Amino acid sequence: MVHLTTGDSQLGRAEPVEDSARVISRMVDLVMIRTFEQSKLEGFASQSRVPVINGLTNEYHPCQILADVFTFIEHRGSIEGKTVACVGDGNNMANTWLHPAEVLGFTVHVSTPSGYGVDPAVAGISNTSCYKVFKDPLEACRGAHLVTTDVWTSMGYEAENEARRQAFADWCVDAEMMAAAQPDALFMHCLPAHRGEEVQADVIDGPQSVVWDEAENRLHVQKALMEYLLLGRIG
Ligand code: NVA
Repeated sequence: MVHLTTGDSQLGRAEPVEDSARVISRMVDLVMIRTFEQSKLEGFASQSRVPVINGLTNEYHPCQILADVFTFIEHRGSIEGKTVACVGDGNNMANTWLHPAEVLGFTVHVSTPSGYGVDPAVAGISNTSCYKVFKDPLEACRGAHLVTTDVWTSMGYEAENEARRQAFADWCVDAEMMAAAQPDALFMHCLPAHRGEEVQADVIDGPQSVVWDEAENRLHVQKALMEYLLLGRIG
């Protein structure tokens, strides 16, 4: 495995990302990119000879959502027809929850502070009936089979930290929200978690939380993804 940061590569010398793709993809079998703008990743992928995996962008976090869907199925069986509540930021995680909702047939309840909602155009879904927007996070959790949240401030948005702390104060997953969900609802968080901000400690450290399985499953789904991309088969 070769790990390249901007400073380790010609990207640090303002080489166009497409040119880096032309070179790097002649030397490796797979590339994973963790960056900010999705357009950079797509610029790289447009000139890559090998598959490019999105390891996280501002817009999407597909490897995490693969792990989350797998974790749900591992614990509760099929996710079809179920409801997932996304409480907090309408960010890369919330956007990406909409993708499997459309493909696998479940519903996403989204509750964000005003001005931080999901944008279906950014999410890139064609069927908007797979999600519902709620002003009140408690109502978003009502009847949900899975309650999930994420940091109030994602990587790259640190300058907004103080404004976000104020805007998101009521979007903290607590015992009352979990009680409004299904009795056997799961709790997930992609980590890192901030207890007392987006989630209370008794939820993330409580019996409904599967965050450590979720973290471990990043390894397993990404191994499966690599096998699929390299060998064209699953299992
Ligand atoms: N939404 C978070 C996910 C961290 C794994 C971020 O982008 O920082």
